[in-house]
Amino acid sequence: MIPQEIIDQILDRLDIVEVISEYIPLKKSGRNFKACCPFHNEKTPSFVVSPDKQIFHCFGGCAIGGNLIKFIMKHENLTFPEAVRIAAAKAGIALPKYERPDGESNSLASRLYEINNTATAFYQNFLRSPKGKGALEYLKKRGFSSDIISEFRIGCAPDSWESFRKYCESKKISAELARKAGLTIPSEKGKGDYDRFRKRITFPIFNERGNISGLGARVMDNSLPKYINSPETVIYSKSNVLYGLNFSKKSIRAEGYAILVEGYMDVIIPYQYGVTNVVATSGTALTSRQVDLLKKHANTAVMVFDADSAGVAASLRGLDILIENGLNVRIATLPEGEDPDSFVREHGKEGFMKEINAAKDLFDYKLDLLLEKKGKSDIGGVADDMLPTIAKVQNAVVQSDYLKKLAERLGVHEASMRYEMGKVKPDYSYHYASEAKVDVEVTNYRSSELHLLGLALSAKRVFTLIQRELGLHMFRDINVKKVMDMLERFYDENDENINVGKLMSRMENDADAGSAVVQAIAKAEITQDIDKAVQDCMICVKKENREEKLKDLTSQLKKAQASHDDTGVIDILGKINKIHKEKVA
Ligand code: GTP
Ligand code: MN
Repeated sequence: MIPQEIIDQILDRLDIVEVISEYIPLKKSGRNFKACCPFHNEKTPSFVVSPDKQIFHCFGGCAIGGNLIKFIMKHENLTFPEAVRIAAAKAGIALPKYERPDGESNSLASRLYEINNTATAFYQNFLRSPKGKGALEYLKKRGFSSDIISEFRIGCAPDSWESFRKYCESKKISAELARKAGLTIPSEKGKGDYDRFRKRITFPIFNERGNISGLGARVMDNSLPKYINSPETVIYSKSNVLYGLNFSKKSIRAEGYAILVEGYMDVIIPYQYGVTNVVATSGTALTSRQVDLLKKHANTAVMVFDADSAGVAASLRGLDILIENGLNVRIATLPEGEDPDSFVREHGKEGFMKEINAAKDLFDYKLDLLLEKKGKSDIGGVADDMLPTIAKVQNAVVQSDYLKKLAERLGVHEASMRYEMGKVKPDYSYHYASEAKVDVEVTNYRSSELHLLGLALSAKRVFTLIQRELGLHMFRDINVKKVMDMLERFYDENDENINVGKLMSRMENDADAGSAVVQAIAKAEITQDIDKAVQDCMICVKKENREEKLKDLTSQLKKAQASHDDTGVIDILGKINKIHKEKVA
């Protein structure tokens, strides 16, 4: 547990606007700052950062929000203590030594990283030794510079069954650990372990933070299999890795998009030639976990494919995952038989970038491909293939635009296309209509409670007004009540407005309360006339309370009547009458 005082100190020293600006560009908009939400796909900015409240929140699809630590957690995909660590470093505050809760698995993970690092260094040294000459020549022939070999920590595994195993023995590294990392394999006859990687070029596979989760290794001739990889371990899963991301994430952020390729070579060679925003799926079909990794850094991916049919088929499969996850996708196609590696070596960075810049929008790419395959006469067939893809587009505006374009390209009425779309996606009409529904629903009492909370969070004056004219006991939603009580304690001792970011750091383990705050702030943010909204919402809450009371009294009345309790009946009727006479507004 990190002490609350330290978290407070960190939040005092940092400004949320500055912190978030390091990750995404923010634009001033009134008292706040705005951007397109980094957590979902959108074209119009609905992500708001409030310097007054020290929180961010998204009005759009994802309705996410919180303080700057929460932002770091979400953006970097970190746990709370990890994010605090980063924030503390930014603030220049030393954290007390953080003890791991001694999970065996935790220490296993760090020991696996360590032995992978040891193996990587071992193979690097072998590559640099006289015996590594052949491997070095192979790499040079393929165009690798010495610098790039060092930067990507490329090495060579000796042509031997036991050189790494023996190295481990000499260094007193546990044989069991080497086996767990998959660097060695137990022999069937129980004669000790042998090395997994032999006579191959080795590529350490880094995770996003630059730790080595596994290794891939390529033969130096045409033998098979061309590549072998570390087996799946607690720190390595093939479908969770984007090869090269540790090197390219900075540039992906700067460029605003990632170039997605298939293999190790297709990352390293373009990188050497100055195309640095590139990552590889390493031969697998793109997974949603990989898309998540990517989306932390950019909203757009350009997929590069070989023009041969395998590449095209793979691209069509990968597409829907990208779209479902809200990534903008463009497709670049290289001439048949070329991959980014060979193409860059032949045409340089400029030639390659020309192809990247000419990448087609996913929609056009798929439509062109279908029209080519099915022909323009098969309108129904083309529409049948296109509509499910369009149905997966998350942003309603983009989706609507695609639909319009599809109708145009196929020469049919937009209305009939919309009708067909409705069949593919039953909730489409709702999705489409939801754009117009933005204003606050004051008649709903829960919404009113949240709205009041939001307004109370924005100024002490408003909180005091609500406390006096409504009373905190009137709040029925337990989360709203909880936060209101926290506010009461805060305002008892403080005269300034509250730093909501700090308040939220006290709700780290209470997701419901945190979510109530975010919803509340979102409502308050778009309020034009604060005093009128406060009055309207208070009336709504009072009415709700009155109705609850009446309901309660009515059931008491029924009971009293049933048991012929005449004095009780008269008493309850009096109470009911009194409530009816009370004016709410
Ligand atoms: P070169 O043939 O040297 O240019 O390598 P490449 O990276 O271009 O390979 P290729 O396009 O054939 O494959 C793309 C990626 O798929 C590779 O980088 C590997 O990650 C993966 N891959 C290819 N072949 C194999 C294999 O036999 N086994 C495994 N596990 N992965 C492979
Ligand atoms: Mn290749």
